[in-house]
This record gives sequence, C-alpha cells and structure tokens, in this order.
Amino acid sequence: MFGLLLGSGLEHLTLEAGEEKIVKTPYGEQEVLLGRLQGQDVAVIFRHGKDHRFAPHQVPSKAQLMAFKALGVDRVIATGTVGAMSAENAPGHLSIPDQIVDYTTGRDSSFWGDGVLANTHIDFTCPFDQDLREALLNASHSAKIYVRDRAVYACTQGPRLETAAEVRRMVMDGCEVVGMTAMPEAALARELGIRYAMICASVNWAAGLADEALDFEAIKEHMTSVMKSVWRLLEVVVSQD
Ligand code: HPA
Repeated sequence: MFGLLLGSGLEHLTLEAGEEKIVKTPYGEQEVLLGRLQGQDVAVIFRHGKDHRFAPHQVPSKAQLMAFKALGVDRVIATGTVGAMSAENAPGHLSIPDQIVDYTTGRDSSFWGDGVLANTHIDFTCPFDQDLREALLNASHSAKIYVRDRAVYACTQGPRLETAAEVRRMVMDGCEVVGMTAMPEAALARELGIRYAMICASVNWAAGLADEALDFEAIKEHMTSVMKSVWRLLEVVVSQD
C-alpha cells in the first residue's frame, strides 16, 4: 500500500471513504487518514499535523514511519516545499530529488538501539528509492506535468530560514533545493525497509538569491498553484500502480 506523507499546502486533502485512525507506536500515537485515492487504498499522514502544530524540527518522524509500517505501507511518497537554489528549480517548479545533503542537527534520526529492528548501517548511497522515482517521472509524463528529474536536496534544521552565506555554502556543496523535512524521514524509511521518494515544490528563491526580500504572500501564491500539480501527480502515480 502507498503511504503519502504530506507537507505544507496539502492539509485540506480528503480521500474516498476516508476515515481517521489512531495508530499506537513505541514512539507515541499517530493520526493516519485511511481511504482510497483513484480506487487504490492509501494511508495519509500530514507531516506537520492537521493543525500544523509540528515545526520541522519537531515532526515525530519515528512515530509516522512506524505507523506506516504497522499498517502495511511498503512505499512512501513524501511532499515538501523547498527554496530554489538553481535556475532549473525556479519557484513554481516541481522536482523529484535524487540526493540529499543533511545539515540538520540533534534530530532523532535512527531506530538503532531502540530494540525495534536489527541494528544496521543502512546503504544510503541513493537516499531516494529509484523505482519510486521512476514511477513519479512516468506519472509526470502521462499527466503532462513538468518536473525536473533530479535535484540535490539540502535539509536544514530550521525553523528559521537560511542566511545568505549558508545558501552560498550549500550551492558550493552542490545543493539545488533547500527544505527542512526530508531528513531524518528518508533514512528512517530505509531502516524500516520502506521505499521512499519525494516530490519537491519550489515556492521561493532561497535567501540571498533574489533581489527582493522573502515575501510570504508570493510564497503562498506559488504554493496554491504548484500544490494543484503535486496533487495531480499523486493521483496519477497511485492510479498507475
Ligand atoms: N528554506 C528552507 N526550507 C524551505 C524554504 C527555504 O527557503 N522554502 C520552503 N521551505
């Protein structure tokens, strides 16, 4: 079953025959919306909670991934908004990232030692599942939605936005989009053997890359239009399963 781990801008989503369920995990209770999308069973978790109560550094990723596992989810498509650091990822565009540089600190980022799985150094050479990425790219072709087929995702700690110098450093590190949420969830999914890929929606130029200051009204506008495409892409990838 597909799990959809939805970020900002998709909190209003509903499913056919949708019902809320509370899943108990060793890491706390997790709300999950179960139902059908395009006739397929799916499980949805709103990463920040329906009322957006979790800031990026507070997201209970272990409970979220464990809840998916308990429900039999074997692949997760996550969504996230990002700041653009390359022309190919300009605001208003979607990308399916293929790499991550993790700049987060102090997040609870492994199940190792919790007694819930065999301790292991996961192979994380390719942090996103290649087959799932292909499925998203195929879905984008059939839906005629333009997505960039790769991007290096910088994951920052937040919740503050970056300084201009931090953005310059991340660009020098080879990063192309910046967000606050892909880690640790991508690694936790891999530890649990759940395939994981992400749709990134660029909603602003990263700090220092545009002439004007970051403008939240403009961000909201990009968010509204780009989220329609994200939603369509999710529908198509699920229906093509
Ligand atoms: N930085 C980090 N996370 C983000 C940004 C950004 O500029 N835009 C949307 N999420």
